[in-house]
Formats: sequence, C-alpha cells, structure tokens
Amino acid sequence: MPANIYDDNLFRRDFPFFESENGGYVYFNSAATALKPRCVIDAVCAYYSSYSANVDRGVDSLGYKATEMYNAAREKTAAFIGASDSGTVIFTRGATSALNMVASSFGNMVVESGDEIVTSMAEHHSNFLPWQQLAAARGARLVFAPTDSLGRVTPQALGSVMTERTRIVALNHISNVYGAKNDIRALAAAAHEYGAYFVCDGAQGITHESAMVEENNVDFYAFSGHKIMGPTGIGVLYGKRELLEKMPPAEFGGEMVYTVDYENAAGTQFKDLPERHEAGTMPIAQVIGMGAAIDYLMSFGYDVIRRRVDFLRDYMISRLEAECPNIEIYNKGQRDSGIVTFNVRGVHSHDAASVFDNDGIIIRAGHHCSQTSHALLCVPTSLRASLYIYNTKSEIDRFIETAKKAEGFLDVLFS
Ligand SMILES: Cc1ncc(COP(=O)(O)O)c(C=O)c1O
Repeated sequence: MPANIYDDNLFRRDFPFFESENGGYVYFNSAATALKPRCVIDAVCAYYSSYSANVDRGVDSLGYKATEMYNAAREKTAAFIGASDSGTVIFTRGATSALNMVASSFGNMVVESGDEIVTSMAEHHSNFLPWQQLAAARGARLVFAPTDSLGRVTPQALGSVMTERTRIVALNHISNVYGAKNDIRALAAAAHEYGAYFVCDGAQGITHESAMVEENNVDFYAFSGHKIMGPTGIGVLYGKRELLEKMPPAEFGGEMVYTVDYENAAGTQFKDLPERHEAGTMPIAQVIGMGAAIDYLMSFGYDVIRRRVDFLRDYMISRLEAECPNIEIYNKGQRDSGIVTFNVRGVHSHDAASVFDNDGIIIRAGHHCSQTSHALLCVPTSLRASLYIYNTKSEIDRFIETAKKAEGFLDVLFS
C-alpha cells in the first residue's frame, strides 16, 4: 500500500524521542541534526552490549561478527549513494572532516600557486573555511560563483567564473540556509569542461535526495550520518577510485599499512582503498548505526520523504504568509527541503528564538555556520525552522501561534 504522506502518525512511533521526557517539545531543528529512529538506537546498543569488538584485527568470533556488520554497513552506504565500488566509501567523523580531508590532502596535491578554487557565498563554513585555508597556504585565489536569490549556482553562473586555472569547484548539494538544491550533475559537468574537480558538500542534500555519485559524476561527495537519522561521529567521503588512490592519507596509524619500512618513509606501503584513508580504530558502533539508518530511510525512500516534507513546509509557509505579516521569510520559493529561514521584523533572532523556546519549540537562531549566506541575505543572523518526516501539522499549528507572539515581542517588552 502506498504511504499516506498526510498521516501525522506515519513515522512518529518509530522515534523514541516522542515518548521521552522531552517528547512534548516541537523539534524543528533537523537540519542541525535529525532525530534517531528506534532501529538505529537498537543497532548501536546491540553492538555495545553483545559484540563490542574491534574490526579487521583479530581471528576471534566476536571480531568476525563486528567486522561483518561493519563491512555490511559500507556496502549499504555504497549502494545508498550510487557507488558501484564500496572501496570508494571512506568513513570519516562527519561531513566536516571529509571536506577537510579533501582540501588538505587532495587539494594540497593539485592546487598550485596562482590556481583558483571556486566556491560560493551560500556554503556552510565546513565547505568554505577548508578551501580558504588551502588557497592561503598554496597562494591560490578563492573565487565566488554568483548565486541566485535562493543561493543556487547555475551552470551558467559557474561558467562565468571558470578559467583554465580553476582546479577545484566546491559547492553544496542543498544549502543549509536557503534549503534550495543545486543541479550538481550540471555543475560537475561545467567544472569538468575546464578540467577542474567537483567536490560536493552533501550534508543537507542527502537528507532529501539521493547523492547518485556516479550518475552525477561528482569527484568527491561528503556527508554526515547524523543528518540522515544515524549517530553522530560518523560521516562519509566518497571519491572516485583513481583520485582516492592518488590522494595521500591525511592520518597515519594502525590498520592502514601493508608493510612498514622503518628506514625509509617512501618504502612504507599503504593498504588499498578504503583502509589507507581510515587510520586507527574507526567509530564502529556509529558505522553500524548509520547502516541501520540507511536501511530505515530506504524502507520508504526519498520520494516519500520529499512528499511529506513538501506537504509540511508548504503548510508552514502558507500559514506564515497569511497570518504573520511581520515575519520575513528569506527562502519561500524553495521546494527542495524542509528548511524555512526567516526573521521577525525588528526582533533579534536570539530574542525571537527565546520566545519559541519558552513555548517548547526548538528552532535554530544565529548564522547557522554560514556567515557568508547571511552576508548575501544582508542580515547578520536569522531563525531557521527545519522540518523532517516525523514532524506534524499540529506542531506547525503550535509554531504559528508562537510566531504570532514573537511578532509582538517588542510590544510585550515595552508595554
Ligand atoms: C551544508 C552543510 N555542510 C556541512 C555541514 C557540517 O556537517 P557536520 O557538522 O556534521 O560535519 C553541515 C552541518 O550543519 C551543513 O549543513
């Protein structure tokens, strides 16, 4: 039977949060981190309680079981992002460390003095600062591709800043402030026309759309497990095999070498992919938990996610527009995610957020780790409500009542 995406109980019972002592909160901060379904929590608990062994190290039964589950999670992750070769899936601490790894290892190898790195003003700091640092270290130029009113970069806009010196193009799949989607296939093609590599920050994109890394022909794709309802402390760097093979390891340690030459660094032989980029004990429970999150997400699929989130977001925006004249929404045209970014006219975002918090509504206030996006919006900070599959229409009703109170914040303050 097709899922009834208008049913507020479709996903709700899968999330223990709503039965916890905090379950009365309205959680509208999923773009920061998503809630976890029971199956993910159970998978993490099962690892710690019944087969808590290290992977790839021993010849014991527990070690085998842990290794089997760990490897299965990698296979699932590869299938999930459309990578036919699971060796191209490198586990990392999260999107941030994945992007830093590409910048510091791969970027350092291919970017030379006078080269250019293209990014945009609509990036999260995790996809801006590593490139800014790399450019400074290599004597390269950081170039901003123009963005449209929803923070997107069109292939034409990208083409307008590309030159034969462009080595890397680093853009988001979906912006964490605008919530709008870049056409990453077209952008990768535009980057490749100039011989540049295309690095995609998929931290928000992957929550609403398949990465399809091979079909989209991206060179690197980074994301975090916690935003797709998995544990924190785990993320993925996908890279094309030939690039990951050339990329020097960012870290050195256990389980990433075949042979160590103790006299000569060049004689030390690193393992094949993926182990050469995974030094030391990896976050095993988190990898297994992310595998469970992927199983969960794939049990209904992206189409259901998108339709449910579209329904909730459209309802929120239509009520805000109709009933809250003093709320300015910055991204109401976007139809790609559950992100609604706004301010209450005349009220600082932190003051407004405290009104929401007093009513048990959790939203994000500040610059959301993207000061550059706020420079584009010409405001210092904003509020961000971000919706996901488990949110409900009645939670949005509560949100609207509080939004009306927040609009009256100054009246209340000075009355
Ligand atoms: C677009 C985007 N990129 C990168 C990140 C960094 O993700 P993490 O903090 O999980 O490494 C985030 C997190 O909010 C994000 O929204």
